[in-house]
Amino acid sequence: MWAESLKPDLLVPLMILEQPLLFYRDQYGVAAALDDMCPHRLAPLSLGRLLPNGNLQCGYHGLEFDSSGQCVRNPHGSGRIPRACAVHRYTLVERHRLLWIWPGDETPDPGAIPDFSFLDEDSGYDVGPRDTIRMDSNYRNIIDNLMDLSHASFLHPDLLGNEETIQARIDIKQEGNSVQVRRDMNDVRPPLLRDLLFKQDGARVNMWNSIRWDAPSALLNDVGTYAPEADPAQFAGQLGCHILTPQTADTTLYFTAAAKQGPLASRSADGEVDFKARIAELRRTAFKDQDDPMIRAQQINIRLHPGVRPVLFEIDAAPVRCQRILNALIEEEQKRVSSRISEEP
Ligand code: FES
Ligand SMILES: [Fe+2]
Repeated sequence: MWAESLKPDLLVPLMILEQPLLFYRDQYGVAAALDDMCPHRLAPLSLGRLLPNGNLQCGYHGLEFDSSGQCVRNPHGSGRIPRACAVHRYTLVERHRLLWIWPGDETPDPGAIPDFSFLDEDSGYDVGPRDTIRMDSNYRNIIDNLMDLSHASFLHPDLLGNEETIQARIDIKQEGNSVQVRRDMNDVRPPLLRDLLFKQDGARVNMWNSIRWDAPSALLNDVGTYAPEADPAQFAGQLGCHILTPQTADTTLYFTAAAKQGPLASRSADGEVDFKARIAELRRTAFKDQDDPMIRAQQINIRLHPGVRPVLFEIDAAPVRCQRILNALIEEEQKRVSSRISEEP
């Protein structure tokens, strides 16, 4: 979630991994995430209120909880508070103007947060609108989509790709649980978004499109455009974050923002604010209006035919690596959980 969307005094209910969670800021402004469920009668705490002392009051019978999730006041009868009267609090870290949560059983490691420092306030990058898109697709299918950008020529024709950008040199790097894939396309007619970010003259260009995936679902896109025969360092491009938070098996929150990069980054005669808004709108069109319906329809077929294995090509090499890493991580987690359950008395 974007940190800026969690304003003081707000109770923000959000489904993550099929679990209803509640986000808010305590009296010191520190972001907190709790299960959105009162231990008394399981009412959602998001229907309660935030008190001036930072405690959360259940809207049903008034139990109060501090930001650790512990019940600290029972206004009824003797006021007794059973030890079990607590709500689970999740580790939440505010970094790169995003909130990062650890929903699983692993020890939270803020050092594992991937580098999205271009989003920082003091990064020197002029970041466009921070957008949140509700995708009606499973996050793993969105990862496949983003890690195989060959689809741009067909699914985003003239906007992000065209028939001249189909052929590309593909380079893949893998380091631990991170995969990076880069496509280089030389002497091609620029798609609209590239032309807007570069010279806005429609002249032929060389361009790269690189995307880094960090498990489980954070992606950084780095694109650049330069004149054929020119020094590639004289480029204009964009950095974009694509951070996917699974809500349910069929829905994902997609947090995305972009910033221009490169010495030749264009400026707009109509003003930067309008220009950034236009770029953001074009990106949203691509992701929500073009990618999402295709992935959603593809997902229905995948569900209907669970035994059918996809026929894969060179373009699938990077997404396949990501899915293998995810499978291994999920398997490890399931083993940990089942061994813990079997150890329980
Ligand atoms: S359900 Fe929360 S106090 Fe009763
Ligand atoms: Fe796409």
